[in-house]
Amino acid sequence: MNELRMDYSNLLSEQIGEEGVTLEEWERNKERAQRLWWSLQEKRSRGDLPFLDLPYMDFGEQVQKVSQEIKGGFDPLILLGIGGSCLGTRAILEALFPPFFQIDGRVGEKGPRVFLLDNIDPSIIAYVLERAKEGDPLVVVVSKSGRTAETLSQFIFFLRLLKERWPSSWKERLLIVTDPDKGPLRRFAKEEGVVALPFPRGVEGRFSVLSPVGLLPAALLGVKIEQLLLGAVEMDRAMKQEGEENPVLFSAYLHYLLHITKGKGQWITMPYSDALGGVAAWRRQLVAESLGKRKDLAPTPSSAVGTTDQHSQLQLWLDGPRDKIVAFLTIEDRKNDPIIPPSEWQQEEVEHLQGKGIGSLLDAERRSTEYSLTIAGCPNYTITLRPGPKALGMLFYFWEVEVTLLGYLYGVDPFGQPAVEEGKRVAAALMGKKGLEGKGKEWEKWRKRRREWLWPK
Ligand code: PA5
Repeated sequence: MNELRMDYSNLLSEQIGEEGVTLEEWERNKERAQRLWWSLQEKRSRGDLPFLDLPYMDFGEQVQKVSQEIKGGFDPLILLGIGGSCLGTRAILEALFPPFFQIDGRVGEKGPRVFLLDNIDPSIIAYVLERAKEGDPLVVVVSKSGRTAETLSQFIFFLRLLKERWPSSWKERLLIVTDPDKGPLRRFAKEEGVVALPFPRGVEGRFSVLSPVGLLPAALLGVKIEQLLLGAVEMDRAMKQEGEENPVLFSAYLHYLLHITKGKGQWITMPYSDALGGVAAWRRQLVAESLGKRKDLAPTPSSAVGTTDQHSQLQLWLDGPRDKIVAFLTIEDRKNDPIIPPSEWQQEEVEHLQGKGIGSLLDAERRSTEYSLTIAGCPNYTITLRPGPKALGMLFYFWEVEVTLLGYLYGVDPFGQPAVEEGKRVAAALMGKKGLEGKGKEWEKWRKRRREWLWPK
């Protein structure tokens, strides 16, 4: 059985008519695409793309060693981090621990509760602090810079709690993943003797899922992380082919051509599985932060979940602007597929559903959406995953390489996110950070120009 399959027919004109790419167009661009691939390989061999080598590093062993020393027994597991320091972990946990993880945060029937805090909503922080007090917590804090205000403020709360409740063993309840050499968290870990795994040098958060960033939480919860890494290695091998046989090069190029020649700049990831919602959110960040760097041309990623969003967005996709590419995600061979039982309520509307797995209805809905989008001229493709860490590792690697190639095609640096830095400075100024008084005044001046409605008057 395949781990991963990608049906790309509906990106091509032979299936979708003039809204797709013709094979002749691809042939015309093939040489340029191949040159792009070689330039990526060159950058890789110079060491400029360290994320590509993550599956070959010894991070898996480092992580296993740390998680074996912890020996389980903790509950809850509290994960602190934001953006690329969290979304990969969320994708792994949601995909591999359905449905418990999404319903009550518990991993399996006996596993710990997991709180993934990628926000600073006060009520959630207060709630998780209470749960931590009652339990036997393990806190994992992930931040490459060690400076992100959200993560640091979460950290301060939990550090205080750990020190107060477990004065002699608080260090054993804390793990850090941060820059290997610098930053406040690395300094803290060195000074206090807290275990801190490296956030690999030169790897951005959104490309870090196959490093200790995603591997540590996964290993602590018993995920076979060697399978995740093996999946990435196998995908890397699959990319060694030329032209159309190199799936990632072909896919990246098709996305680019569809955007620049047909205006398909809205890229939607739509899993037909709640468990893959985290993967869609991860890809949304990957595309947005990596490619959103040109005022005149950048794809806008979004995500949806099938079938739920058929009832909220599909109308727009079918009859609205023809500017979308939809990536369906689906799971093969579901382990759990309850059969719709016979019902005394024998109406015409339900008769055909009885005796079928509810998953077959989900599949039928996906196929019908795929069909109607194709007929309406909306390019789409379907990625089918076999449940488990290996397929997930393959998909992460595939999309990371694809977005890097796309960065080169759009002529932008896919790494870094310079535009969000200004917002961070303003937030720090508003919180009274020393040295940013000028920024604070600038904001006050700007705010005075605001007009607002108030009810009741
Ligand atoms: O992808 C990225 O690099 C960003 O989304 C970062 O992960 C995010 O801003 C958090 O940064 P840090 O890991 O430094 O706390």
